[in-house]
Amino acid sequence: MGASQRLTVFGTGYLGITHAACMASLGFEVLGVDTDAAKVAKLSAGFTPIYEPGLTDLLAAELGTGRLRFTTSYEQAAAFADVHFICTGTPSLAGGGGADLSQVRSCVMTLAPLIERPSLIVGKSTVPVGTARDLAGYLAATGRPVELAWNPEFLREGTAVKDTLVPDRIVAGVTSKRAEHLLREIYAQQLAAGTEFFSTTLETAELAKVAANAFLATKISFINAMAEMCESAGGDVRELSAILGADPRIGARSLQAGLGFGGGCLPKDIRGFMTRAEELGVDSVADLLRHVDKINLRRRSRTADLALELAGGDLSGVPVCVLGAAFKPGSDDVRDSPALDVAQILHGLGAQVRVYDPVASASASRMCPELRYPASLEEAATGACVVLLLTEWPEFAGLQPADLAALVSEKNIIDARNALLAELWQAAGWNYCSLGVGAPAESPR
Ligand code: UDX
Repeated sequence: MGASQRLTVFGTGYLGITHAACMASLGFEVLGVDTDAAKVAKLSAGFTPIYEPGLTDLLAAELGTGRLRFTTSYEQAAAFADVHFICTGTPSLAGGGGADLSQVRSCVMTLAPLIERPSLIVGKSTVPVGTARDLAGYLAATGRPVELAWNPEFLREGTAVKDTLVPDRIVAGVTSKRAEHLLREIYAQQLAAGTEFFSTTLETAELAKVAANAFLATKISFINAMAEMCESAGGDVRELSAILGADPRIGARSLQAGLGFGGGCLPKDIRGFMTRAEELGVDSVADLLRHVDKINLRRRSRTADLALELAGGDLSGVPVCVLGAAFKPGSDDVRDSPALDVAQILHGLGAQVRVYDPVASASASRMCPELRYPASLEEAATGACVVLLLTEWPEFAGLQPADLAALVSEKNIIDARNALLAELWQAAGWNYCSLGVGAPAESPR
């Protein structure tokens, strides 16, 4: 195996499509592989199943150059290249926090016997620590000329293309200098632009991904625990967050208090990490992450409780307007979305819930068909007794109190993402509630 200009990318989820399109844009000939023929046909025609700024254009451009193609054939893939990226999904196992590795395993086990010349399989999927070592053992036992490396991906939804083309760091878990050398060659353009390269063991590489996500989740839950403190003690978590973030050792990013984290990665990955830590008897990690998860979920029930309070203790039949369904702005992803979760809780309490999201209504209605999704914000807000801002899309942050007041039947608003200017809404006569801001307690006499 030598410096390769040809790559395959297995899996056409978020990670797979982004990686395939970005590597093609860097000049590689890329064959994307998925067993789902319908998905392959759609991608080949330039349709992406996900909303990701810049990705559809990039996909179309690279299909146009001929550098990017898709197939269902593993035989074709094995013959096409000697570097194969595994980007298949690792969802949570049904009924537990552990990761379902069936797609990763079946991909490696179907591909390996087809490999005829010296090749490298590079895992990018997020897996429990120990998975790569097991797979490497399996590959060695096949007797095929194939080696395994693990190269986790840290992209964020909404900035996936940029994060892939200009990553913060590249982590290569390898078992030979040859594999390290090959990965350095593949990422030569990023390295030349100054991206740091970490060559390490398979285990450290696997841990790098889940530890990074665990740290980000912990940081978000830390500031949300401080929000609980502010609510009890009379502080303001928005100011507290700004003050803490000014310390370069702490940093302001991922320190935004509110409804907490969701999406397809952080919740799944910390639960998977918790399960793996328990299996290994590392209680410190399992206990820490259990608390992080609990603090995070408590923000959702607290938000629903606030809505219940504003409705006078009974939500049955009460019209409620939910602004936002995506797990974060800039995305149509509703997997483990805090916004959609709160909407469902309110629906369960009997409220007439109308959800408006500028991008994610279609994906939300597939996941939660029991809720209503009007086509406009105006329609969602008309007649509402309580408005909840649950995803901080810029168009929600720019809402004017008077415009919304003209639509609702009662001026109650919960700003669960601290996206609005409290003073503006209060001055306009709104009953404005946010998370993490408390009234000062009276001094004891
Ligand atoms: C995350 C990691 O950032 C990324 O490195 C990893 O590869 C995949 O998981 P992503 O899920 O795209 O990326 O979203 P991110 O921007 O990290 O936000 C995750 C969640 O945390 C969102 O629900 C967001 O609303 C919430 N969040 C984020 C906060 O509540 N407060 C913050 O300060 C930041």
